[in-house]
Amino acid sequence: QAAPLVDTFGRAVTYLRVSVTDRCDFRCVYCMAEHMTFLPKQDLLTLEELDRLCSAFVRRGVRKLRLTGGEPLVRRDVMTLFRALSRHMESGQLEELTLTTNGSQLARYAADLAACGVKRINVSIDTLDPDKFRAITRWGDLGKVMEGIRAAKAAGLHVKINAVALKDVNEHEIASMMAWAHGEGHDLSLIEVMPLGEVGEERVDQYLPLSQVRAQLEQRFTLADIAYRTGGPARYVEVKETGGRLGFITPLTHNFCEGCNRVRVTCTGTLYMCLGQEDAADLRTPLRATADDALLDTAIDEAIFRKPKGHDFVIDRQTRQPAVRRHMSMTGG
Ligand code: GTP
Ligand code: 5AD
Ligand code: SF4
Repeated sequence: QAAPLVDTFGRAVTYLRVSVTDRCDFRCVYCMAEHMTFLPKQDLLTLEELDRLCSAFVRRGVRKLRLTGGEPLVRRDVMTLFRALSRHMESGQLEELTLTTNGSQLARYAADLAACGVKRINVSIDTLDPDKFRAITRWGDLGKVMEGIRAAKAAGLHVKINAVALKDVNEHEIASMMAWAHGEGHDLSLIEVMPLGEVGEERVDQYLPLSQVRAQLEQRFTLADIAYRTGGPARYVEVKETGGRLGFITPLTHNFCEGCNRVRVTCTGTLYMCLGQEDAADLRTPLRATADDALLDTAIDEAIFRKPKGHDFVIDRQTRQPAVRRHMSMTGG
């Protein structure tokens, strides 16, 4: 058994997030610029290389793999990768194989995902209003996403809805989104908008602290803190009136970096040790240098040794400086 990955703060890295493509069929305003230049195909890791990279991490103690993007389901033949990775679920080395998706291609893939051992998926929806949805995603079709969610449910997948809380955009809709999600048997996680990429005035203005959302919800609902955790940063409450779970992801109002257990790789094999820091390590070069994983393992060890204590996110009206210049879509959150 290879040595587990533990950083200098004693945190074990057991959760790998893998962005399999920088492309997406939507352009959510807080995630991508409207006109993006996407990477040329030859810069991308092949599906075989992605498999090798993930497997190297699994060997080093990663127990949870989440494929992200961009939109993971727009990567050509992505199911081949899921199928390959499912062997780690079958062997019991991996506890969870999952993805975060915008849901647009879910109707096509839900059954295949379930067949690969995927049990739980996260789908991003910030509003139930089709026009607003189109405005946030710049052209997304909510109906198609809903169809995908129904297909996922029918395939036996547990669905968690992710909603970025946006002031004046979906602020007054959160209670009804919760009622819908819980009514359908889905968990709902609310997320504070993070300053990555170009942070314009709009993003700063749209920032809505979840402490405020929680206080508002508590005027109408009974929220009880629960110990339930998924391995991600969300803290959950149970809502007495709906019987459902509501998660809060609060990078700005309540830092959770102390319990960080994750790193992320991009589709070019760049390892980011923190979502909110620039420091990165190139894993593509050692991956391609030799057929065995000796150099790769060393590169991973060196990178984990540098994992920072936490992110530097602040939402600042004066400077509007992002902590990191890359867009969220590069690391998939
Ligand atoms: P679960 O397995 O359901 O807990 O998933 P998750 O919350 O780990 O993943 P998901 O892809 O659904 O991410 C939800 C939100 O949490 C996204 O906005 C991510 O950017 C954010 N998030 C996940 N991990 C981190 C992290 O380490 N730091 C910060 N700041 N945000 C994170
Ligand atoms: N701040 C917070 N969450 C974001 N996401 C994308 N960009 C941001 C941002 N700037 C969310 C998506 C998706 C998850 C992977 O990250 O809505 O649910
Ligand atoms: Fe695409 Fe997801 Fe980014 Fe929206 S948040 S642009 S759906 S990758």
